[in-house]
Amino acid sequence: MLTDQFGRTHNYLRISLTDNCNLRCFYCMPEENYDFTPHSKLMQADEIDTIAKIFVKHGVTKIRLTGGEPFVRKDASKIIRNLGKLPVQLTCTTNGIRIDDMLPEIIQSDFQSINISLDTLQKEKFLKITRRDYFDRVLRNIDLLLQHDIKTKINVVAMKDINDDEISDFIAFTKDHPVEVRFIEFMPFSGNKWSSNQVMTQKDILDIIREKYDFNPLPIGFHDTAKPYSIDGHKGSFSIISTMSEPFCSGCNRIRLTADGKLKNCLFSKKETDLLTPLRNGEDILPIIQSTIWSKAKTQGGQLNEQFEKINTAIIQNRSMINIGG
Ligand code: GTP
Ligand code: 5AD
Ligand code: SF4
Repeated sequence: MLTDQFGRTHNYLRISLTDNCNLRCFYCMPEENYDFTPHSKLMQADEIDTIAKIFVKHGVTKIRLTGGEPFVRKDASKIIRNLGKLPVQLTCTTNGIRIDDMLPEIIQSDFQSINISLDTLQKEKFLKITRRDYFDRVLRNIDLLLQHDIKTKINVVAMKDINDDEISDFIAFTKDHPVEVRFIEFMPFSGNKWSSNQVMTQKDILDIIREKYDFNPLPIGFHDTAKPYSIDGHKGSFSIISTMSEPFCSGCNRIRLTADGKLKNCLFSKKETDLLTPLRNGEDILPIIQSTIWSKAKTQGGQLNEQFEKINTAIIQNRSMINIGG
């Protein structure tokens, strides 16, 4: 078991496959011309497999592939096939563009559920937010997942003056689409031009939804990031991820591996532990993993919101979102 000093066990590993992406969302990636990490500095497919096996041997039961965009990596199929052989629930968070290309691997490796990042239901706005024109393909791919009975969650980063006018549209989308729309409070990361004025809090979001809809809370799992709600007559549901206004650190079971092989014990931790170099040097990395998890802070979500100075220091020392994988 991978346990920290507060008794939290970690059975959910998020592996970033690459910091590269086929979109350029302004809130995730600092610049249009961003220097992606060269392939040689990334964990190679066999190294990912070796590291993942160590985690699985010590209690990890769920692996989420993230990016950047995990499916732009050329050997993504090979990585998925390897990880698909492990006794874990394998899943991913993707922008959805390459779902059609990857469908055979997704089915073969038994992905039960996929999270798609989509912040708008308007084609023009999609282009503005992502600086790329893939809206129609993403919507088609959501339908494709539903046709194959793969549970689909849509991650919507809720931002004032960007998509706060679409909260009700997303709820309307759940009437005929059996998806879970998850509104996420906008979080600060290096280079993402975050401002506290732009955060739509859980309360702001629920207030907007309440104007048009009656909704009921659904049961929430102890480790879940999202608080779910149902609406009578809707095939889908919605939920809120309240990292900023109501963090959920006491149930945290997550550990992150960056594409260049660094272990982050918290989304907001500035400290990173290199696993790739010791692995390449033939060292036993298990004690390194154990001590990194043991030293995890009690909480780093939400409180960042209290003092702006504190936020700035923390962001500058952390990576940008595209480099962490969420
Ligand atoms: P499920 O396994 O489907 O519940 O997904 P998830 O919420 O674990 O992962 P996803 O990649 O869809 O992330 C959705 C949002 O939650 C993103 O904005 C993540 O950054 C955020 N998130 C995921 N895990 C954590 C976490 O451990 N702490 C915090 N603060 N935010 C997280
Ligand atoms: N705040 C909140 N969520 C974010 N994501 C990316 N950047 C941010 C941010 N600044 C989301 C993406 C993706 C998930 C992994 O994190 O939309 O779905
Ligand atoms: Fe876990 Fe850190 Fe997120 Fe809190 S902020 S839930 S400790 S990853």
